[in-house]
Amino acid sequence: MNAITRRKTIEASIKLEGSHRLKATLGWPHLVAIGVGAIVGTGIYTLTGIGAGLAGPAVILSFLICGVICACAAFCYAEMATMIPVAGSAYTYSYAVLGEGLAWIVGWSLILEYMVAASAVAVGWSSHVSEFIHYLGWPVPDAFLHGWMSGGILDVPAILISAAVTLLLVIGTRESATVNLVLVGIKLAALLLFVVLTAQAFDIGRFHPFAPFGYSAHVDPDGVKRGVLAAAALIFFAFYGFDAVSTAAEETKNPGRNLTIGIVGSMVVCTTIYMAVAAAALGASYFSDFAKTGAPLVYILNSLNHGMAAQIVAGAAIVALPTVILVLMYGQSRIFFVMARDGLLPERLARVHKTRGTPVLMTVLTGIVVALIAAVVPLDKIALLANAGTLCAFIAVAVCMMTLRVRDPGRVRAFRTPLPWVVGPVCVVGCLYLFLNGLPQFTQWWFVIWNGIGLVLYFLYGMRASRLARANAQA
Ligand code: ALA
Repeated sequence: MNAITRRKTIEASIKLEGSHRLKATLGWPHLVAIGVGAIVGTGIYTLTGIGAGLAGPAVILSFLICGVICACAAFCYAEMATMIPVAGSAYTYSYAVLGEGLAWIVGWSLILEYMVAASAVAVGWSSHVSEFIHYLGWPVPDAFLHGWMSGGILDVPAILISAAVTLLLVIGTRESATVNLVLVGIKLAALLLFVVLTAQAFDIGRFHPFAPFGYSAHVDPDGVKRGVLAAAALIFFAFYGFDAVSTAAEETKNPGRNLTIGIVGSMVVCTTIYMAVAAAALGASYFSDFAKTGAPLVYILNSLNHGMAAQIVAGAAIVALPTVILVLMYGQSRIFFVMARDGLLPERLARVHKTRGTPVLMTVLTGIVVALIAAVVPLDKIALLANAGTLCAFIAVAVCMMTLRVRDPGRVRAFRTPLPWVVGPVCVVGCLYLFLNGLPQFTQWWFVIWNGIGLVLYFLYGMRASRLARANAQA
């Protein structure tokens, strides 16, 4: 088997040496909270408005399309995560099924999904905090509230939140997952409040005309890509995160049962919440009004004279966004950890702390990079790029699920994807379609450039240094 196609066996993926093993401490409530913590965040608070601006009331269909694709991906993840219950998510599955070369590309793309998205959410959090600082009248210079690519010098709040989340992760998985559980409760309560209050102002007439920009993605004369599918490619950002649950596989008690509940459960809960919030928003306010604002939910509540509720929802956004950063950074540090354990990144980085049971060095490095990106790059430039990496990972997981069904049908599966030959292809075709037709061209190019850099690194380092390469050389 050559370097690119050599595979790590599933047995080797599951069997881990003592010093590199993570502690199994998580139950299913923690996993559902990890999923919900990652899914419901920046997307629901900001992209509902921008998405409506791209699709009109038909953005509800964009939510549905993303929900269906992500539900299919969630089933594939659940099957793979219970079969290979170790850290690393799509990267680990690809290494066992598709070979080292593709696994590297998937792992490298996951950096976009987790680390770049975490940075984006840190910037989003910072802008909410900036608003708050202005509201309180504190004399903080604007230059330290925005990164230099956004007209400032350094985004200090984004750096601080990245550092705080890193600290939580270093202290230990159990502690940070429990903090996450409490914060998730707060943000769900705020969204429920939004739906209940706006339901009273619901008017079906606001859904007409339903799809003013059409269904297919097309570039308008102003250079903006619009249509239901273009909106779907953007608000896809708001949907993912449930796959972060699978990155916790190695730290899960009774993974066969708990991971299935964690992944599928968090997906179903969040899709339901999104549809309800989007329908409530579209029924309570004309999309053309709230599409212009960066905080559509707060705007709508204010326009309905629910000032106090608007403050509560805004406050919940400030409280909620760190849970998203937490889960994304958690996922990223674990993926780096596994890639280093496999020798594709320097192995020294993968050492687990003796008493804490967490990969401290890797977690701190992840935190530093997240803070650096968040300190300078603006949010809007990176959400779409994060989507590109995620779409790639989802495709890989569905392909892995289908390949193993053919290659190894007799293997014990604690969770079996229902209708695998419908669910798998829907996931692959749906993600490919969103990637090729929904994403703007500059995002596609950035994705190609990113993976080009990754492949250079692989050929220079990982291809020779990987454990499989060294094992093959000794054999
Ligand atoms: N789904 C996450 C969010 O909406 C990334 O912020």
